[in-house]
Amino acid sequence: MFGALGSVGRRVVEEGRRRGHEVAEVSRRAGGGAEVGDAGMVADVVRLSAGRDVVIGATRPTPGREDELVAATRALLAGVAETGARLLIVGGAGSLVTPAGHMVLEAPDFPVELGPIARAGAEQLEVCRADREAEWTYLSPPVLLEPGERTGVFRVGGDEQVGEVISIEDLAVAVLDEVERPRYRRGRFTVGY
Ligand SMILES: NC(=O)c1ccc[n+]([C@@H]2O[C@H](COP(=O)([O-])OP(=O)(O)OC[C@H]3O[C@@H](n4cnc5c(N)ncnc54)[C@H](OP(=O)(O)O)[C@@H]3O)[C@@H](O)[C@H]2O)c1
Repeated sequence: MFGALGSVGRRVVEEGRRRGHEVAEVSRRAGGGAEVGDAGMVADVVRLSAGRDVVIGATRPTPGREDELVAATRALLAGVAETGARLLIVGGAGSLVTPAGHMVLEAPDFPVELGPIARAGAEQLEVCRADREAEWTYLSPPVLLEPGERTGVFRVGGDEQVGEVISIEDLAVAVLDEVERPRYRRGRFTVGY
C-alpha cells in the first residue's frame, strides 16, 4: 500500500487486515514502521510489488507539486506491469460526471483552490486509460471524503457520480471489495451514499 500512512491509506490498511489480508505499508519516510519506497520510482514499485497480488496507491502530493501525482501513477503502472500485480488507485472526484452532464471539476461552484489537485487527478485517470500493460482499476471518491463510520452500505457506479459524500472507512470497504472481487478491471468506479 503506497500512501499507507495517509488518511485514506491508514483506513485501507486497517480494512485489509480486518479481512485477514497480509498488507505491507509503504511510505517515503523511514521510521513510521512502514517499508520505505517512493511510488514515483519504478524500481521501488517493482521491488515492493514483487510477489504481491495487488498494489494500492493512495498518494497525495504536497500542494504545488501536483505533477508528482501523474509521475507516480506512471511509475506505479510501469512497475506492476513488470511484476504482474494488479493496481488499484484511489484518485480524485474531479473527473466524475455530474447529473447535469459535465465534469465535477468544471462545475461553476467547484472550489478554485482544489483545481490543481482535481486536474492532476483527471490526468491520472487518463494516464491509466492510455496504459496497455498494467491491470489497473481507478476509484474516484465522491467530492466529500471524511473520516466517519464504517457502515458497509453505499452505492457503487461507473463514471457518473452516485453521491456527494462517503466516509473514508466506507471508501476502504469499497477498495477491499474490489480487491477481493474485481468488477472494474481497466476501468473507473465510484462510490457514495
Ligand atoms: N474527494 C476527493 O476527490 C478526494 C478527497 C480526499 C483524498 N482524495 C485522494 O485520495 C488519495 C489519498 O489522499 P489522502 O487524503 O489519504 O492524502 P494524505 O493524508 O495527504 O496522505 C497521502 C500520503 O501519500 C504519501 N505519498 C505522497 N507521495 C508519495 C510518493 N511519491 N510515494 C509514496 N507515498 C507518497 C504520503 O506519505 P509519505 O509522506 O509518508 O511518503 C502521505 O502519507 C489522493 O489521491 C487524494 O487526491 C480524493
